[in-house]
Amino acid sequence: MVRAEGIYKYFYGKKKGYTVKACDNVTIHIPPGKTLGLVGESGCGKTTLGRIILGLIKPDRGEVFFENTKITSFREKELRPMRKNFQMIFQDSRSAFNPRMRVYDALKEAAVLHLDMKVRIIKEYINQLIDRVNLHRGLLYNYIGNLSGGEVKRLDILRAIMISPKFIIADEPLSPLDISMQSQIVNLLMEIQQKKKITMMFISHDLRMVRIISHRVAVMYLGKIVEVASKTVIGENPLHPYTKFLWKPKSTDIVLKFPDKGCVYKRSCELFQKRGFPSVCLEKEPEMREVEKGHWVACHFIK
Ligand SMILES: Nc1ncnc2c1ncn2[C@@H]1O[C@H](COP(=O)(O)OP(=O)(O)OP(=O)(O)O)[C@@H](O)[C@H]1O
Ligand code: SF4
Ligand SMILES: [Mg+2]
Repeated sequence: MVRAEGIYKYFYGKKKGYTVKACDNVTIHIPPGKTLGLVGESGCGKTTLGRIILGLIKPDRGEVFFENTKITSFREKELRPMRKNFQMIFQDSRSAFNPRMRVYDALKEAAVLHLDMKVRIIKEYINQLIDRVNLHRGLLYNYIGNLSGGEVKRLDILRAIMISPKFIIADEPLSPLDISMQSQIVNLLMEIQQKKKITMMFISHDLRMVRIISHRVAVMYLGKIVEVASKTVIGENPLHPYTKFLWKPKSTDIVLKFPDKGCVYKRSCELFQKRGFPSVCLEKEPEMREVEKGHWVACHFIK
């Protein structure tokens, strides 16, 4: 089980008074063997949250628990032996590899570090797995720097799944792939997740894709979670105006100027406009409330 509680992470710009609230009191729970989809627009804080959960960056405040062990207080030395349990498929996969390394050597390095396998067995193991992500074996001795974006992404996925981790964060794992490759990777991730009972966080800006692969979906906007529900409920009964907006095939994002106080979504909120700009949205931040069992939403007007 993975839990992040009350996570804050602010970044401060050089310009005085400029603050980016990448995570602003974020709490999420992922039960063992389940997938949580995290969806939200570019820059809302998804990657930052993922990196905090895996201990790659420290939060300003808040705690992360992995199987009830509080890992936020661990130093890198203490975290290292646990790292084989959790893996990240990086949004920018290329930066996660040394371009001057050969594909086989990068995979072998991960296998030796985490799997304690003999070299002869590693080769066989890699040969079996490479077909699963649709990379042809001829690429094994190529330099990573020469691979295409889609090939590097599939290599990153392969490296993450080959060590059989208990928890994977897949950060936009489909973005550089074409449609047919996207469906192959979605199917592969779902199959592995179900067979090996891996706990997963699947990050994307595409609610439709997130809904296919997840058991529960959390919707994030400007550093805050605004709605959490099962994938069925998020599709059939989305309540937060932002979640509804994400479902629309084409919508225009109206940006209005209001002070920072109050609800994080007010500048683009259709419901706020329809209701005649009620002052409660401008003054008071809505809290997450459970409106039906397991369905949480942060909006003053959803009862
Ligand atoms: N190291 C950093 N220094 C300063 N600002 C940062 C840093 N990392 C992230 N940010 C800012 O924090 C905000 C959240 O970034 P993050 O990468 O988490 O968003 P995201 O939801 O993953 O976006 P995308 O969908 O584009 O990947 C952004 O405004 C980003 O510019
Ligand atoms: S609290 Fe107000 S601004 Fe925020 S989502 Fe609800 S109606 Fe929109
Ligand atoms: Mg990101």
